[in-house]
Amino acid sequence: MDRELQHDVVILGAGLAGLRAAVEISRRLDGKVDIGIVSKVQLMRAHSVCAEGGTAAVLREDLGDSRELHAWDTVKGSDFLADQDVVRTFVDTIPKEIRQLDHWGIPWTRDADGYISQRPFGGHSYPRATLAADKTGFFEMQTLYDQLQRYRTFTRYDEFFVTDILVSDGGFAGLVGLDTGTGETVVIRGKALLIASGGGGCLYGFTTYSQTVTGDGMAMAYRAGLPLEDMEFLQFHPTGLVPSGILMTEACRGEGGYLRNNTGERFMGSYAPKLMELAPRDMVSRAETEEILAGRGFRSPEWGDYLQLDLTHLGAERINTRLPLIREVTIKFLGIDPIVTPIPIRPVAHYSMGGIETDITGRTRVANIWAAGEAACVSLHGANRLGSNSTAECLVWGGIAGDRIAEELPGLAAAAAVPLELATRAEDHVRQVRARVGNENLYALRRALRETMDSKVGVFRNGPDLASALQQVRDIRGRAARAPVADTSRVYNSNLIHALELDNLLDLAEVTVAGALAREESRGAHARRDFPTRDDESWLKHTLAFYTPEGPRFDHKPVTIDMWKPVERKY
Ligand code: FUM
Repeated sequence: MDRELQHDVVILGAGLAGLRAAVEISRRLDGKVDIGIVSKVQLMRAHSVCAEGGTAAVLREDLGDSRELHAWDTVKGSDFLADQDVVRTFVDTIPKEIRQLDHWGIPWTRDADGYISQRPFGGHSYPRATLAADKTGFFEMQTLYDQLQRYRTFTRYDEFFVTDILVSDGGFAGLVGLDTGTGETVVIRGKALLIASGGGGCLYGFTTYSQTVTGDGMAMAYRAGLPLEDMEFLQFHPTGLVPSGILMTEACRGEGGYLRNNTGERFMGSYAPKLMELAPRDMVSRAETEEILAGRGFRSPEWGDYLQLDLTHLGAERINTRLPLIREVTIKFLGIDPIVTPIPIRPVAHYSMGGIETDITGRTRVANIWAAGEAACVSLHGANRLGSNSTAECLVWGGIAGDRIAEELPGLAAAAAVPLELATRAEDHVRQVRARVGNENLYALRRALRETMDSKVGVFRNGPDLASALQQVRDIRGRAARAPVADTSRVYNSNLIHALELDNLLDLAEVTVAGALAREESRGAHARRDFPTRDDESWLKHTLAFYTPEGPRFDHKPVTIDMWKPVERKY
């Protein structure tokens, strides 16, 4: 090891959940704490800044919204796989988070009467997506980082790529990673670790995620012995800009936008006549896919099939004030002005419902390791997340996990020296990746993995495709061992980082595909053509995937259902 560092708390990931936790720990301990915030990118490039449309919260009980309604919408949206105690904690906590951000200075969009603006989002029975234009995540990040500046509690490790989470005697022992700017291998020890490193959407080629979101935290946790939960549930957002995949926020439909097929029809009338474009995401993505398969999409040899998101009836004023980012992006990327021209879209990989298993406080099975945000699975979203519940989850469980860590920190022992055997194994990990020889190309393999996921593990799935995808993932893993890291330099070796990311993606792909193959039912975002109905008798349970060198070992655990019995999900 080139360097060894130590903090009270180490936070892996500098997005919304990580920053919210850092603020909470600092606040609770009155600034008397030492936090290391580790991020593979510059802090304000965490993918949370890309969150657009809003953060769900009940703010207007005076006008008819209620926490019970938000909870019911979330449980129904999850296709009854959400843990209902978790959902209640969520809906009770998020209104405070919204007001707290307000007091911290976030520029929420305001209605003419001065109230914080909220807009409709899919599957919510009240307009409760709280917005800062269509740049909500950016403003939330900026506000949290600004708040963190009040404390002299933290050290930033930007562009620091963690390769291993070390666990010894059943507890957190440290992180090992590469300081990419110097090429040094560094150990960071701490009394507690919070994993808040985001999802794994770059498993797919057509995705809304930043290219840096490769599920590293989830994959490292899995290899360190923490189970991943419900990974077969991957959300496809209905409106990814064609051909890039950039998110065209659901707020476009929340503001009144239409989805049209090649005859100009608002086709959602045939699938969800009441909610139309504001049905939950799993349903809208399936409807779009059916339209395309039936030949009612627009054809482009260059872009593939697509449908249209039509905002032209909204008018310039509404688009410019409520959706300025959408207009800027479509003009810059396609030369299309949505004030006058419909936007080409299709379903796009957007969000991991699954993640590192935690309890309701964000605690994992390994002592002194917590997880929060998209990297975690606290079981809030079940089989299908409602739009605008994700930034909300990051704020709520960043806060809750931060509070727990602050509570327990004074009683935790100082981090011991990392056992030599563990440190050596972590160093060997990177050394072996650097030493790979053969004639495979890791970029071609990354593309092949994404093509496999795009074509065989998409909106609709079936057994033969999933079995073939699993074989292909395992094949690619074998070939990756023969894909050399051509760049031998020490400093900013992005070639090495890409090889390590590919290994992480392969672990997640294997868990996702094997879990999808095993789950012989359709629930939420997991739609099997060969098992088209929900099967509560056999499958109303969470999937847990444990790492073994031969591939994931699956187990299950019950869903907490203490309020609403599952019923048919009709909209
Ligand atoms: O469409 C959106 O603005 C995305 C929001 C979300 O995923 O929660």
